[in-house]
Order: sequence, then structure tokens, then C-alpha cells
Amino acid sequence: MDTNNNFFNPAFDGLVPSSTLFINEAVNQLWQQGEQAFHMGFGESRFDVHPRLQKSLSDSANKKSYLPARGLPALIDSVASYYTSKLGRPFSSSQVLIGPGSKSLIYGLQMVMGADLFLPTPSWVSYAPQAHLLGNKVSYIPSKVEDNYKLDLKALDTLINASDNPCKLLVINSPNNPSGEVMSDESLQQLATYCRAKNIWVLSDEIYSQVCHGGIEHRSISRYYPEGTFVFGGLSKHLSIGGWRLGVALFPDSELGKQLLQKMVVFASETWSGVSAPIQYAAIAAYQEHDDIEQYVVDCCAIHGVRTRYIRDALLGMGVRCSSAQGGFYIAANFDQYRSGLSHLGISTSADLARHLLAEYHIATLPGSDFGIPEKTQTLRLSTSYLDMETEFDSQRIFDLYNRGLGSKTLMTIDKHPATHGALAAFAKFMNSIN
Ligand SMILES: Cc1ncc(COP(=O)(O)O)c(C=O)c1O
Repeated sequence: MDTNNNFFNPAFDGLVPSSTLFINEAVNQLWQQGEQAFHMGFGESRFDVHPRLQKSLSDSANKKSYLPARGLPALIDSVASYYTSKLGRPFSSSQVLIGPGSKSLIYGLQMVMGADLFLPTPSWVSYAPQAHLLGNKVSYIPSKVEDNYKLDLKALDTLINASDNPCKLLVINSPNNPSGEVMSDESLQQLATYCRAKNIWVLSDEIYSQVCHGGIEHRSISRYYPEGTFVFGGLSKHLSIGGWRLGVALFPDSELGKQLLQKMVVFASETWSGVSAPIQYAAIAAYQEHDDIEQYVVDCCAIHGVRTRYIRDALLGMGVRCSSAQGGFYIAANFDQYRSGLSHLGISTSADLARHLLAEYHIATLPGSDFGIPEKTQTLRLSTSYLDMETEFDSQRIFDLYNRGLGSKTLMTIDKHPATHGALAAFAKFMNSIN
């Protein structure tokens, strides 16, 4: 084999494996070496698989045949009813597509549309690399830390006017990964009016919609802009079953929406064929709004809220500027006001900062630059879902303590959350070093 020839697709130039997966491996390596590591780098809800879903999966073990590329009809029907109930507007089965996680579905939509992509800053790590793989143009909409990263319509408008691609796709993600911000009803309505006027499609990534804990309820922009919105979701976050790889997409109920869905079915049929049959049969129960599952989701969400707020309050107390974290299990923490202390340590980018925290304090985080934030802005994404829930035993312990009615103060004491306290103590040391 002639190794001098560059036989790789140039679309991969500059791309590396997703940073979230990379940091997870780095932490696992530290753990394997017997080192302590505070894992705030990976956003994975750690709770157990709900017993009803476990049973549903074992009952489906004999489902062995290929299923339709669009998805199992009974699952599609349940998804349409579920979203009709949750989002307060009608969805029909003909609008639904099932895929192996919403990540693959988002990639598929980007592929079939070939749109210019507009991303809020910050945005989840995978939208932009997917667009790069497909040769689609990406524009990040600048935002301000002081405004809690609010989507700036004027800044969006400037970018939209500069695009000559007739097909434009804006991504919104509420609750947001990495900031945990939830978009208000008013801002969704304003955005809907703007997108309608400018003919912009909206990819509404609602994967964290069932994990709102900061007092603002999740609302979907599809309520105000049904003809231009694609709603994406799945089971990974609120039910803690990312490994099941089941995602859903709901297309606009229009001629164009139907055509796009058909093209996605072509893509599905030529790539993944169909999501694993036992998983699809088992997932029906997840979309039937059973009281026990609904209550479980509420409890898990409340625990994420207590833990996230505890960490956020402690960091605020140390002088770290934090996003409001109203949903999901993330905090965007900004250290810009400590630039001079950071530069004494040779830290000039958020990636330097993340490396320093991992090397010196064994705190794993992700740099804001992975989320489209300019690299000199000293923002990190902190994930709160792993600490003290590293093992199944630990996550069950936290869940049981919460269900015994422990108030948030007692739940967060050092004996119950030792790793969280350890991470915060390490942060306090680091803050001393840059103050
Ligand atoms: C914002 C966001 N969207 C989509 C995904 C993809 O989720 P999945 O492919 O498991 O459905 C994730 C996973 O981390 C995410 O954080």
C-alpha cells in the first residue's frame, strides 16, 4: 500500500473524534490507573433503566426481523401521541421518523437539506462537525456571557442576510447543552415570527425537554412555527438510556415536510436500515406516558436540579460566573475576569484551561471552544451528572436517598456527595491560584 498517497476524504481534515467521548476515555484511564478524577466532562444521566422498560426490553428479545426504515409503526404512533400531549399541538404519525439516536437523525437532516447552518453560541459539539463532513457552511451567532448567551436576533439577521444559500437552517437547543439555559416563551415567539418572515427552517433539538428544573417550563417553537420546525428528541437524557440509541424526529406537516421525510427514509434505508427491533418494541412503553415512568422522570430531573444548583451556587460563591442552568445537567462557567492570573499559568485559551484543570486538579471539563465559543473566552462546560454517580450502585444510592424525602441540603452533604465536595475543594484551590 502506497502510504504517500493521501487517500482520505478531505472532509475529515481537522476533525477529531467527538471531544465528549475523548474526555470520557481520558478519565477512565485515570481511574484505571487508580487515580482520583472528578468527571465533569461527560453529560450522561446515570440513573438506572426504569423497571418497566427493562421488562419491555426483555419481553422483546425475540423480535428478530428487520423493521421498516422509517420505524416500527406502533412506535411511530406512540411517538406522535406523546408529542401531541407533551407539546400541546397535534402531530400525526406521518410526521415521525425513528433513528439510532437523534445524533444520526440530525446528521441525516443536514445531509438531505444541504442548508447553510446557523448555530447559536454556544452550541452542542456535534452540529458543526457534521456540517463540515457534509461540506455545508456553518455560521456561529455571536452571544454575550453577560446576557446568559441569549440568542441575539440582530446578530442572526446579519448572518442570514450574508448567506446566498436559499436553504437556511437554524438550530436551537432548549434546554441548552452546554449552558442549561431554557428559552422563554416570549423569545420563542419572537424567533418564530422572524424565521417565518425570513423563510428559515428551525431544527429544534429538544432532547433535554423533560429535564427542566429551573422554574421555566419547556416550550417548543413548533407551537408557534409548525410549518418550519423539525423537532428532535429521544430517550437518552430523561430516561438515562443513551446506550439504547433511540432518537426521533418530527417533520412539519406540509408537502415539503413530507418530501424531506421521504428523503430521510432513503438515507435511513441505505445506511442504518432500521433501529434494532427489540429496542423499538421496548421503546413503545417509553412513549405511552405510564404514570410510573412519568414520575421517575420527574424525580430524576429534580435530582439533576438539586445537584446542578448546588455546584453552581458553590462556584458562584468562589467568584466564577455561571450560566443560569435551568435544565439539563450542565453549567457554562466563565473565568474571563481572571485572565491575568490565568496568563501567569500560561493559560490563554479555554482548551489550555481544561487541560490545566485535568492535569493539576484531576477535574475533567470541556473547553468552551468545542461549543463554538471563541477560544480566548475562558468558558468551560461543566457536566454535573457523573459526580457521585460513577457506578450503578452510587446512582441508585442517590436516587434512594432522594426518595426517602431528604431535603436538598441534607442530600448534598459531604458524606452523601463526597466527589462533588472533592471537586469543589479542588476548584477552590485552583481559584486561589489565579486570584
Ligand atoms: C444537545 C444534544 N443533542 C443531541 C444529542 C444526541 O443524543 P442521542 O444521539 O443520544 O439521541 C446530545 C447528546 O449528548 C445532546 O447533548
